Amino acid sequence: MEVVIVPDAKAGGELIAEAMAALVRRKPDALLGVATGSTPLPIYEALTAKVREGEVDASRARICQLDEYVGLPAGHPESYRSVVLREVVEPLGLSESAFMGPDGSAEDVQGACEAYDRALAEAGGVDLQLLGIGTDGHIGFNEPCSSLASRTRIKTLTEQTRVDNARFFEGDIEQVPHHVITQGIGTILEARHLVLLATGEGKADAVAATVEGPVASVVPASALQLHPHATVVVDEAAASKLKLAEYFRHTYANKPAWQGL
Ligand code: F6R
Repeated sequence: MEVVIVPDAKAGGELIAEAMAALVRRKPDALLGVATGSTPLPIYEALTAKVREGEVDASRARICQLDEYVGLPAGHPESYRSVVLREVVEPLGLSESAFMGPDGSAEDVQGACEAYDRALAEAGGVDLQLLGIGTDGHIGFNEPCSSLASRTRIKTLTEQTRVDNARFFEGDIEQVPHHVITQGIGTILEARHLVLLATGEGKADAVAATVEGPVASVVPASALQLHPHATVVVDEAAASKLKLAEYFRHTYANKPAWQGL
């Protein structure tokens, strides 16, 4: 995997937004997989600015979701559908029809998961999948010990993830659902390009285990090592536990100019 160390979250957002813009210039109807949480917000801000300033025409781009809470009422402001509509789809000027995600309120949850995997494949597959990382090493909501071959399915959140996410629910962990639908690790690995952004010291251990540790389901993000085109963008704080930080800096600084992310 390629590891890029950037000074701060804003620089990471700008770098990844430019990679997404370059993809959309090459392939106007690209299917962009987005993540929620705090980390990717600088990416969405930078991409929105590029669209508004006419640097890229994203009017034919398509957006798909990585995961969704189970059991929140339709239209709940913290459902990931609402978040992606608010932070990505609307700012980019796209219509809801350009957006696909799993149905977290389906009665047949397993059926909804299988339908989502089919829908992604029928849409031609994800061109670029953005990922954040949990403090416990999760990607999507594939918590530690998730099968590295898993498909979209229902998962139970760890207590740590519910604590981490309580900030989106007025700080009240009781409001954080216990269950989610998440693309499986096997599903995520089918995207053509994986781009993980991690910022802040709280992610440093998870990043070191992902990049420099063995591939192991106890660190789900380590599955990125199996992907032919995975990029990990980290700020200085999130990079602080990487033993190979200097090597990564040297490699990126000496990359051929024509190579994008
Ligand atoms: C959200 C998701 C999660 C988050 C992760 C980090 O769609 O898939 O894996 O990316 O929990 O969240 P933040 O960015 O809020 O630290």
